[in-house]
Amino acid sequence: MAQRESWATRTGFILAAVGSAVGLGNIWRFPYQVGEQGGAAFLVIYLLLIVGIGFPVILVEFVVGRHTERNPVGALKQIGSGVWTKIGWIFVTAGFVILSYYSVVAGWTLRYVFLGLQGEYTVDGAPDQFVQVASGLDAVFLHAIFMAAVIAIVALGIERGIELSVKIMVPAIIVISLGLAVYAFTLEGAGEAYAYYLSPEFSTIANNWTQILPAAIAQAFFTLSLGMGVMITYASYLGEDRNLAEDAGIIAVLDTGIAFIAGLIAFPILFTAGIPAGESGPALIFISLAAAFAELPLGGILGAIFFATVAIAALSSAISIMEVVVSYLIDERGVGRVPATVALGVAIFLVGTPAALDLIFVDLYDGFANSILLVLGGLLLSIFVGWIVPDLALDEVSKGVKNIGSLGLAWLWFIRIPVVVALILMVALNAWDYFGF
Ligand code: PHE
Ligand code: NA
Repeated sequence: MAQRESWATRTGFILAAVGSAVGLGNIWRFPYQVGEQGGAAFLVIYLLLIVGIGFPVILVEFVVGRHTERNPVGALKQIGSGVWTKIGWIFVTAGFVILSYYSVVAGWTLRYVFLGLQGEYTVDGAPDQFVQVASGLDAVFLHAIFMAAVIAIVALGIERGIELSVKIMVPAIIVISLGLAVYAFTLEGAGEAYAYYLSPEFSTIANNWTQILPAAIAQAFFTLSLGMGVMITYASYLGEDRNLAEDAGIIAVLDTGIAFIAGLIAFPILFTAGIPAGESGPALIFISLAAAFAELPLGGILGAIFFATVAIAALSSAISIMEVVVSYLIDERGVGRVPATVALGVAIFLVGTPAALDLIFVDLYDGFANSILLVLGGLLLSIFVGWIVPDLALDEVSKGVKNIGSLGLAWLWFIRIPVVVALILMVALNAWDYFGF
C-alpha cells in the first residue's frame, strides 16, 4: 500500500483547517442568525458556546483523527465496535447533504459577483433580483460550476490541491474583510448598528433562550466544521509532535474573529440602508448588501469584491466537506481518488439541484443536516471519546504538550458531563424545533 499523504508543513494543516472553518457559515449564515435571534443576545450565547463546547469538541475530533490516521468511518471502525462504528455514517450523510446546498448558496455568490461587475445592484428591486438569482436554471448552472471547481481541487489530492489553494485564500479573506469592516465603520448607521449587534439585553436572553440556544449551537457546529468528521480527517494527516489544543485554539479564534467581522460589515450597511435586520433569513446578506452596495459610491466594484471573497471562502470549506466523503471511498472501498471524487461530485450536484430550483430546499436541507445531524454527530462522538476510549483520548491529547499536568483530565471530565448533557438538551431542542413536536 502506498504511503499515506501528509501535510507538507504545519502551517499547511492550520491553513486548511481554518480554510474549512471560514466560509458561508461566517459570512452568509452567521449574520442572518444574529438578525433572526435579535442581535447581541445571540452573539453572547454564541460566543459562550464556541468557548465552552466548540473548543473542547474540536479536540475530540482531533484525538480520533490523529490516533487512527483514518477517514471518519474507518477511524470509528478501528477504535470502536458495535453501534459506535455507525456514527461515521451520520458524518458522511451530513457532509453529503450539507455540500449539496452549500454549493447552491456558493453559486448565488458567484452570480452576485457578476451582477456587481455589470452594475446591476438595485435598492428597490433587490428582493425580486434575489428571487431570480436563487431559483431557476441560472442557479443550477452556477451550482454546477462551483461543484466542478470542488471536484477539480479535491481530485488533485491533498497536498497539491488543498494546501496550496488555502494558502492563498485564507490571508486574502482576512485582509478584504478587515478593509470592508473599516469602510462600514464610516457609515452613518454604524453607531445604531453597533448598539444592536454588541450591546445585549439580558431580558432578551432570559425570555428567548429555548430558541437562541439551539440556533446558536447549530451555528457553532456549522461554523467550526464540527460534527461530521472534517476535523478527524484533517488531523489524520497531522504529526505527533503537534500540540492539538494549541491548533484548536488558533482555529476557533480565527473563525470567530472572521464571523464577528462579517457582522461588523453587514449591520452598519443594513442600518444605514434602513433594512430591518431580522426579516430576510437566508436572503439577508444578498438582498440587503446588494441593496446597500447599489447606493454606495463604487458599490458595484465593492460588492463584486465582497461576494468574490465569500465565494473563495466557500470553496475552501466545500473542499473539506468533499474530502470527508471522498476519503471514505478511498480508504474504505479502495476506490481511486479521481473516480471517487467525480462520482460523488456528480451525485452531490444532483441532490443539490432541487435547492437551486427552490429556496425551500435550502431551508429543509440546512435545518436537517446542520441543526440535527451535526449536533447529533458531535454528541455521539463526545460520548464515544469521553466514555468508551478515554485512555486513548488522554494519551493523544497529551502528545506534543510540554507540561500538561491535570489539564488533560479536566478536558476529559468536561467532555464527559457538561458537554454531553448540554448537547443532549440541544439535540432535543433542535429536533423539537425542526419536526415541530
Ligand atoms: N465551517 C464551514 C463554514 O462556516 C461550513 C462547514 C460545515 C464545513 C461543516 C465543513 C463541515 O462555512
Ligand atoms: Na465558519
